[in-house]
Amino acid sequence: MRPLHLRSAGTSLVMSFSSGEAEVIHWGADLGSTLPDLAILGEPIPHSAIDATVPSGLLPQGSSSWQGRPGLRGHRIADGVPGLDFSLRLRVVDATADGTTAVVTQSDPDAGITVTSHLTLHPGGLLELRHTASNHGTSPFQLDELATMLPVAPDAVELLDLTGRWCRERHPQRRAIQQGTWVRTGRHGRTGHDSSLLLAAGTAGFGNRHGKVWATHLAWSGNHEQFADNVADGRTMIGGSELLGSAEVVLQPGEGYTTPALFAAYSERGLDGISEAFYSWFRARPHHVLPAAAAGTAGKPRPVVLNTWEAVYFDHKLDTLIELAESAAELGVERFVLDDGWFRGRRDDHAGLGDWYVDETLWPEGLTPLIDAVTSRGMEFGLWVEPEMVNLDSDIARAHPDWIVGPSAVSPKDGGRLALEWRNQHIVDLVNPEAWQYIFDRIDALLRENNISYLKWDQNRDLLEHGHGGRASVHEQTLAAYRLFDELRKAHPGVEIESCSSGGARVDLGILERTDRIWGSDCNDALERQTIQRWTGLVVPPELVGGHIGPTTSHTTARTHDLSFRAITALFGHFGMEWDVRGVRGAERVELKRFIALYKEHRELIHSGTMVRADLPDESLMLHGVVSATPDGGVPAGATAALFALVRTRTAFAEQPGRVTVPGLDPERNYRVEAIFPAPGDADYARTHTQVQPPAWLAGGAEATGRFLAQVGLPMPVLNPEHAILLRFTAL
Ligand code: DGJ
Repeated sequence: MRPLHLRSAGTSLVMSFSSGEAEVIHWGADLGSTLPDLAILGEPIPHSAIDATVPSGLLPQGSSSWQGRPGLRGHRIADGVPGLDFSLRLRVVDATADGTTAVVTQSDPDAGITVTSHLTLHPGGLLELRHTASNHGTSPFQLDELATMLPVAPDAVELLDLTGRWCRERHPQRRAIQQGTWVRTGRHGRTGHDSSLLLAAGTAGFGNRHGKVWATHLAWSGNHEQFADNVADGRTMIGGSELLGSAEVVLQPGEGYTTPALFAAYSERGLDGISEAFYSWFRARPHHVLPAAAAGTAGKPRPVVLNTWEAVYFDHKLDTLIELAESAAELGVERFVLDDGWFRGRRDDHAGLGDWYVDETLWPEGLTPLIDAVTSRGMEFGLWVEPEMVNLDSDIARAHPDWIVGPSAVSPKDGGRLALEWRNQHIVDLVNPEAWQYIFDRIDALLRENNISYLKWDQNRDLLEHGHGGRASVHEQTLAAYRLFDELRKAHPGVEIESCSSGGARVDLGILERTDRIWGSDCNDALERQTIQRWTGLVVPPELVGGHIGPTTSHTTARTHDLSFRAITALFGHFGMEWDVRGVRGAERVELKRFIALYKEHRELIHSGTMVRADLPDESLMLHGVVSATPDGGVPAGATAALFALVRTRTAFAEQPGRVTVPGLDPERNYRVEAIFPAPGDADYARTHTQVQPPAWLAGGAEATGRFLAQVGLPMPVLNPEHAILLRFTAL
């Protein structure tokens, strides 16, 4: 069988079949259309080894003497005897490709297992890989793991992954690649605050805009593992798999299991090139929310949001909420989202989850008076829900205790053990068709009966000891939750859905396939958000990441920040507020209004452009921005506009920042540069700067070519720590 060669956007993937199994022999830079005879890659056979070369298989196998993590683990159970067919010898039986997609089938007829792999190299260079294992034997086959992984080149010597916790999601950690396996395990039953959105291997010191990088993401919202496996022969694989519970997937004869998709990107331009591949994939999706002009379709700009959570929490009073809506509309808000606290029995977080009926005592006339107050002022109305969860103190839990998830085969009403409570709540067993239908019907009814354009879909606990009928069921529950999203979307195609999970604990391409934005974090502290959003934005484009201006003093860190810093931080996302804006008056209100207008003016650029993050020598300074998109992506030729934030995170070592170079602009074009926010006269201007005299260009702006800005830069003002300025670049 001839080798396969997929090519797209500077990336090649070459697969050889000469060993009998499918082997990825290159995933990286584009190799052009002519490949040599791949026999030249035949490797030496070292001492104390099998008498053949060992392929780095698409599904690495112990039967070929692969000593690293195997692609498939499992065994057959025949006549009550487990452990049979423990070692598969998968051989290619079919392989087809059309330049950017391939389907490869490998089979072990003796063991009765076939695996079909689907590969797509998308137009922006993002690779999508999935395997499906099928049992064509006559007895059940227990599948313990089916992993998706790819080899990286030997010059990948460093690893970057992300970790975090509540209010501190997606922070980077780095290490050298050494022999052994680095595994990031998620046992939360949800994606998790600590989940690594991306696993990136790269050349020494790879950065935002330099170095070669190979990166993978597993599109799955349940238990999972992501790993980098460096085996004794020096080869490294990176990838991931669903982490299956004990006997969670037992394939009956004729049944199959499909892995979550592994998305993989290669870049020769550091991490920014990886982001470009992901952004291009997101933005090509038919249902992606894009500004109309950029989409060239029926897109719409991302509306300015006011979310009520940090404004009123559970204190839902119609008069207060109408006042808040009036104040929001006056500022220019376009979407008003009523957060937790509106449904039966929900006065705090101890009761009510599962009873998805508008609380009659709080809302005697239903939500209509509030919805009318919102929509009559030209805003959309959004509603918070948490469909997968239930409080024991709810009518639904009292009526259907057996709909509550637990590890036991015995129903809770007969004494079966439940998992520990978490925020006073439990999980609805969506694998149970009746429970699933009840939840579907309630959310469907709410959407039918009320003029709701948006759901903030929350998920506030881990799925611990998650069982159905006494057997591990995170896998089935995750699929059932996906089905709930899918069916509700189908029934209400005009309704947008946000994925929230105690902040940003469900951020992955599995959930983003069926939602329209994610809530990045419960932390609205702008300083923390700078890091959270920077690293979330590694994969997820800004139009899909909610970023809100929170109260002046953060509710989660007690830090106080000026409005300008909070606003500039929220700007590089899907912008909104989560603040009792009724109390924002005088100069601060003028500044806030000006900023909202500024977001509206620039949102199309922010939500369709190329993300640029500078590699600055000063670690207390960040420069990031968006450059207007160019057809060839990444190469900045033709960039007509850009918006950058210069952020001082802490005091600097040096007295002044000196010249800061600005990457990503068209070297041949001349640009006008202006510092547009906060501007002299804005309430926060004086507090942002500490200098006797600002740099010469600041007052009137400057003109320079993209080349000059990238090579020489501009002297920047002396910013106070935890302050930022917004810079606009316009091609002349
Ligand atoms: C957690 C979310 O992340 C918050 O934004 C808020 O919606 C609360 N849940 C409500 O309970």
